[in-house]
Amino acid sequence: MCGISGVVSFHPIGDRLYEGVRHLEYRGYDSCGVAFLTDHQIEIRKDVGTVDEVDGKENIRQLSARVGIAHTRWATHGKVTRENAHPHQSCHADFAVVHNGIIANYKALRDELLRTGHQFYSETDTEVIAHLIEQHFSESGDVERAFVSALRRLQGSYALAMIATHDPERIFCARHESPLIIGAGSESNYVGSDFNAFIEYTKNTVILDDGEYGMVSKDSYSVKSLRSGEVIEKAITVVPWDSELSRKGGYPHYMLKEIHEQPQAVRSALNIDAEEIGAVADVLAQARRVYLLGVGTTYYVALLGQYLFANLAVLDVAAVSSDEFRYLVKTDSQSLVLAISQSGETYDTVMSLRHAKERGAQTAAIVNVMGSSIARMVDRVILQGSGPEVCVVSTKAALVQMLLLTRLALALGEQRGVLSAAARQRHEAALAALPEEIETIVNEKSGLIRAAAYRHAHMQNWLFLGRGIYYPIALEAALKMKEVTYVHAEGMPGGFLKHGTLSLVDHNLYTLVVVPPTTAAELYAMTMSSVEEVKARGGFVLGFAFDGEEEIFDDRVTLRATHELTAPFLPLVCAQLFAYFTATALKRNIDKPRSLAKSVTVA
Ligand code: AGP
Repeated sequence: MCGISGVVSFHPIGDRLYEGVRHLEYRGYDSCGVAFLTDHQIEIRKDVGTVDEVDGKENIRQLSARVGIAHTRWATHGKVTRENAHPHQSCHADFAVVHNGIIANYKALRDELLRTGHQFYSETDTEVIAHLIEQHFSESGDVERAFVSALRRLQGSYALAMIATHDPERIFCARHESPLIIGAGSESNYVGSDFNAFIEYTKNTVILDDGEYGMVSKDSYSVKSLRSGEVIEKAITVVPWDSELSRKGGYPHYMLKEIHEQPQAVRSALNIDAEEIGAVADVLAQARRVYLLGVGTTYYVALLGQYLFANLAVLDVAAVSSDEFRYLVKTDSQSLVLAISQSGETYDTVMSLRHAKERGAQTAAIVNVMGSSIARMVDRVILQGSGPEVCVVSTKAALVQMLLLTRLALALGEQRGVLSAAARQRHEAALAALPEEIETIVNEKSGLIRAAAYRHAHMQNWLFLGRGIYYPIALEAALKMKEVTYVHAEGMPGGFLKHGTLSLVDHNLYTLVVVPPTTAAELYAMTMSSVEEVKARGGFVLGFAFDGEEEIFDDRVTLRATHELTAPFLPLVCAQLFAYFTATALKRNIDKPRSLAKSVTVA
């Protein structure tokens, strides 16, 4: 959602504050602002627009201040206006706050503060925090006490950072259900929503937990418990990623870079120790009921996992979208909930896990971001090691999650005695060939896929069809298309078509069909019957297909399958490229498409 960056240093911080918030733009990018301290006064510079646009007007990089906080916003409360952009300050401009999350009781707090004479300048929930701190400061005269008293009154979720004229050498920060970390550097310390805010300067991070607050000065930091006020000794987590990995490196967009990084990301995932996978397979095997949990793309990953577990391990598991999990599933101590999340911070998934834990369930997760909330809250975690995924649209992380679920299903199949050791080895050999197969697609098919994307970029309505395990692939392919092109694309199982949706088929709608190889004979035949149904009504069909009938398609991207297990991954890579090139044809904001944020940390 929103991105928070803060720097306190012996040196001018303009550059670092700007860089910090720019590298967090994938979390939100409709407005941006900074607050900094000079001569015991807080100055605020903010506006609507990207970090670069706001910097162009407000010269953030030129700041000579040594203490400051910055924010890039993804609007939740209040329109996208300069007034609603963060930071927000108190009536006397002696406290400034940036915030990510939602303050659930902000209306009650606002009414109370209005009654005591405070004036509000924005529609945001955040502004109440600044006034609340000021109110408590007027009673205690102590910044830390005022900060703590205000935090104790907040309900909802927050990651926040604050500066105060009465304590001009420090940044105060805190978290509750929304991530915030401290970066421990030399001659400068940092706060950030994640380490992209400061990874160029330090890899040493201190991860705040819920109910903790931090005070960061240029040469030290401390973390305390919000409940007791006691100092908490926190371990330093060293981020294993390089700052270079987080940068674009010659590609026009992160999305394309990350699609191209997939062979390497798959290799890393194949190198994850078999024992680590086996340990999670053990808990899956012991559970009476297994739920796979994700939302958006990761729900589709979970759905694919459902097919993998059924096919390879003969185990019925339920894939549940984490935004609905709480309303649908009543877990108990015999349940195992396996969450899937790139960021490890997605609110719906975090809350579902919490719900499951409260009911005694065992938990596990596949997560890309080390030290993230989900990675830390589950009983067992597999860190997928895909490297930073900066584009808001998930590509390599999702594909690697699918691969890891395949590895888990294989391990589980053998444990359950439904897959022989020899069969497992054959499957694993197929997985080992996957990086090269993906390389072949990105190197040899990109031109063809680009041409197809440009040919069809005028089409505003798409159906994406797949059957069996190709159905979640079709869903994910359609989501990629929607997210990055703003074109309507609806994924569905091929069998669904004749139950209503066929009525849509005309010259204003194209159909993309993910066709399995002919070796999956039944699935192939059933998928082709869906193609026939569309063709019989004069519909246009683009096939992502392996071998088999050629003539029936109006347009086609042909792939080479070497193994039934890895075949579904290949049209997914094509679909990522198809969405990417359609978006370039339509001149979309590819890495930061509208109305999306990388890590959705609000309900
Ligand atoms: C992916 O392209 C989307 N931006 C979105 O659906 C995402 O997968 C979802 O919000 C879950 O995010 P997570 O993996 O960080 O939990």
